[in-house]
Amino acid sequence: MNYLIGIDLGTSSTKTVLFNENGDVIASAGMSYPLYTPKNGWAEQNPEDWRDAALETITKVIKESKVNAKDIKGLGISGQMHGLVMLDKTGKVIRPSIIWCDQRTEKECKQITEKVGAKRLIEITANPALTGFTASKILWVKNNEPENYAKCRHILLPKDYVRYILTGVFATEVSDASGMQLLDVPKRQWSDEVLEKLGIDKSLLAKVYESPEVTGTILPEIAEKTGLSTSTVVVGGAGDNAAAAVGTGVVEDGKAFTTIGTSGVVFAHSDNIKIDSQGRVHTFCCAVPDAWHVMGVTQAAGYSFSWYLDNLGAEYKYEAKEQGCDVFNLINADIEKTPIGANKLIYLPYLNGERTPHLDPDCRGVFFGLSSMHSKADIARAVMEGICYSLTDCKDILEEMGINVDDMMACGGGAKNATQRQMMSDMFGCNVNTVTASEGPALGVAILAGVGAGIYPSVQDACHKMIHKDPNKECQPNIDNKSKYDKFHQVYKNLYNCLKEQYKEIAQI
Ligand code: XUL
Repeated sequence: MNYLIGIDLGTSSTKTVLFNENGDVIASAGMSYPLYTPKNGWAEQNPEDWRDAALETITKVIKESKVNAKDIKGLGISGQMHGLVMLDKTGKVIRPSIIWCDQRTEKECKQITEKVGAKRLIEITANPALTGFTASKILWVKNNEPENYAKCRHILLPKDYVRYILTGVFATEVSDASGMQLLDVPKRQWSDEVLEKLGIDKSLLAKVYESPEVTGTILPEIAEKTGLSTSTVVVGGAGDNAAAAVGTGVVEDGKAFTTIGTSGVVFAHSDNIKIDSQGRVHTFCCAVPDAWHVMGVTQAAGYSFSWYLDNLGAEYKYEAKEQGCDVFNLINADIEKTPIGANKLIYLPYLNGERTPHLDPDCRGVFFGLSSMHSKADIARAVMEGICYSLTDCKDILEEMGINVDDMMACGGGAKNATQRQMMSDMFGCNVNTVTASEGPALGVAILAGVGAGIYPSVQDACHKMIHKDPNKECQPNIDNKSKYDKFHQVYKNLYNCLKEQYKEIAQI
């Protein structure tokens, strides 16, 4: 039997899963690490934490599974996108990584738009200048930490740093590179024009591959440390959403998925490149060679819930601990007893600014309509509804672009929550399904590794054989509920418009 490893380098933890070639989970291990917020709107992580988590979890799964390392034919890495990793000439990390949800680079985004031109930037990179993307983070270091910039010899994305540790190779692949704002997304190669206009030396960047292509093999010292074999190939892998698409079988036109991890995403596959001229949703290369995807992003989806639990809903955590149950069993029971609209309480999930549909780094979270009657259950329901309104905004824009979604797959932590799946189905007005395999991005990159290692003929072929809907978990929309949600959603949308100028004002104080 052949085996494959998928590593999912997320924002809160890294998870490594060993699969057999049929996609069955043989062993899995996870390790979490901190996220640092040195200032309001900043977000950093230590690349060394990602490295340690990858090495430790690989070692664990190999030890636990007892498979022969030589039978592990391929390894793929899925990663949180956009993070900036800078290495010096010896391959040492220069400064903590400025990660995807950091919002410090508004000034640099203006510079990028001025230098490249708003229209040209969207034509080449398929997106407007965004604070989350890597190019503005590179310029921020150049502008604010010139001594660190002068030392930099290699710029990598989070998962590509882990690849470098495993293989010694500087490489990236099209799906993750699309989120750097330096790639010519229609042509799937670095844009000389953008690099030149921004004054970024191309030699700092890694070689770009397609996601299933082989980029290298395991270094002998890493093989010794982890139990891997030097013959295991490491493929391009993918950004977390492109990887989740493969892991949920969204690899053909007409297919879409939504995920609620730290951020939330609504993602649709497209065999032809489609770009929103207002840049409200992202267009990226996808992990299927010669195809793209369009996706809307909610910055703080699952993160809204973890923030709520840490700061306002701590009582649920204590109760869950006492009863020895999952905290969401308690929260969902309360949410289901609370009416749609949370007794007229609306939550805007803009804790870290927002991408779709506002592209606004200054906006922040809001509870609107708080009354003395509201309980922790109303607040919990308002948070879940706010996340789902934001995802509905993403889906509505895809529809405006002519991408019709009749059947949505759900993945990520939020997909495990039946209350949240039904809420999405009601708001979206379409069926929401899950797949039987729950490993999403890790399975997606393991499939890519299997294609690279020659086990499967193509990504689509592997998905047809291995990814199946879970017939017991289909959610169908309740049209009465939809019309109730629609009314609150309209107020939710109006609130941003009313607050837009106030967000700017408070940001400047
Ligand atoms: C996508 C994005 C997030 C991160 C973290 O553009 O920023 O999905 O990849 O999950």
